[in-house]
Amino acid sequence: MSDKPLAVIVLAAGKGTRTKVSTPKVLLPLCGSPMLDYVLDAAAALEPRHTVVVLHHAKDVIEKTLGARFEREKTLIVDQGTPKGTGHAVRVALAALDESIGAPFAGDVLVIYGDTPLITPETLRELVEALHRPASGMQFGNGSPKAGAGASLLVSDEMPPEGMGRILRDEQGYFVGIREERDCSDDELDLIEVNTGFCAFQSAVLRDVLPDLESSNDQGEFYLTDAFALVLGRELEVETVFAHDPDEAVGVNDLRQLSEARWFMQERIHDAHMTRGVIIEDPATTVIERDVEIGPETHILPFTVIRNGVRIGAHCEVGPFTHLRVGATLEDEAEVGNFVEMKKSRLGHKSKAKHLTYLGDTTIGKRANIGAGTITANYDGRHKYETTIADGAFIGSGTIIVAPSKVGEGAITGAGAVVTKDVPEGEVYVGVPARRFDKKRGGEQAEGNEG
Ligand code: UD1
Ligand code: CA
Repeated sequence: MSDKPLAVIVLAAGKGTRTKVSTPKVLLPLCGSPMLDYVLDAAAALEPRHTVVVLHHAKDVIEKTLGARFEREKTLIVDQGTPKGTGHAVRVALAALDESIGAPFAGDVLVIYGDTPLITPETLRELVEALHRPASGMQFGNGSPKAGAGASLLVSDEMPPEGMGRILRDEQGYFVGIREERDCSDDELDLIEVNTGFCAFQSAVLRDVLPDLESSNDQGEFYLTDAFALVLGRELEVETVFAHDPDEAVGVNDLRQLSEARWFMQERIHDAHMTRGVIIEDPATTVIERDVEIGPETHILPFTVIRNGVRIGAHCEVGPFTHLRVGATLEDEAEVGNFVEMKKSRLGHKSKAKHLTYLGDTTIGKRANIGAGTITANYDGRHKYETTIADGAFIGSGTIIVAPSKVGEGAITGAGAVVTKDVPEGEVYVGVPARRFDKKRGGEQAEGNEG
């Protein structure tokens, strides 16, 4: 990358009216994280000197949700006031950046939108580098090589063009500007080359052209997209960079596009796991959110949902129809089967819970067998309580363990037992409420018998 300092401006002040839901658009979830998180991840990978996020609508909610991250990364948050277009947003951001460092920022400025979560750092890097490619000077017919481009822009001719700004070129194919769809003539609507929205500028050039933006368009807004024609007007080149993978540029304006973006992201997550030796039998019916760890040679069977942060060891089997929620951990060779839900629970090495089970706030040791229909009753309507099931325990079918409870090492519960107090190591407990079962007296119930 060029050694010039980089500032990234992330635009996220818009209302997102097209989603028709009250959640702020940039907080809509994608594979377990808000959209904006992905955009910020891609930006952070470039190690920018400054990151500026422009907010206005739902600013408080967004700051609350991502506050820890903003603080950690020393993000400069700017309130745009009433949003008056992407050009206005960048103007406000650049002014705030200059003010925060007490001097006009000198370097490269990368502008990205908060509603494009699939962008990768590689593409962003390429866009910034395009600013520093020795420009040809051809565009202006003077033949003299210039220091570099004034601006660069990520474009694509492989995306559905609906809703996108169209790239205008002259007869020789030189870029001349961008026209927003709603301002296009019928002929211009037929153009298939579109503006993905990602762009970079030399800071001095950006600062120079921003005051010249006008709002004489259908929406009466200051469009950043008009800045490129102004850059050309200063006899500086605009580098158009073609997106290698147009899916990266998918913008989310409505819920249909959100589901499309989610699917692209899901494919990336699946691919990463499969590359590391995880067997996903049917990716189309398997949801795996981000930040999930799965060891090699684990089988994930169809209709399984694995939420953010779950940890699964090697040689495990998960599914079909398993739901692993926050804080679920499976140690190596553990197995969970159909209609098993786990939350804040750990299943030890070689332990199994194969059918119709809820494990909440539960720690299970090694080689335990959790019978069909086992439920940990972890919630009394007010508080959550913990359950511990030690190594080698055998929980009979239909057991309910009312937490807090401990089942000792090698202990057994009979089918349908309702465990309301601790079951000591090696004992057998049966019935409702569960009582000690005396093996020597041929099944008579002995001391500890409350019934
Ligand atoms: C924009 C581009 C269009 C491009 C498309 C790609 C403009 C004028 N148009 O259109 O050429 O094809 O993205 O996805 O840039 N925002 C602000 N403040 C504002 C307005 C917008 O922060 O005053 C933010 C929005 O929150 C959003 C982003 O900028 O995150 C883009 O705005 P949006 O209204 O979605 O623009 P598009 O119509 O998609
Ligand atoms: Ca958009």
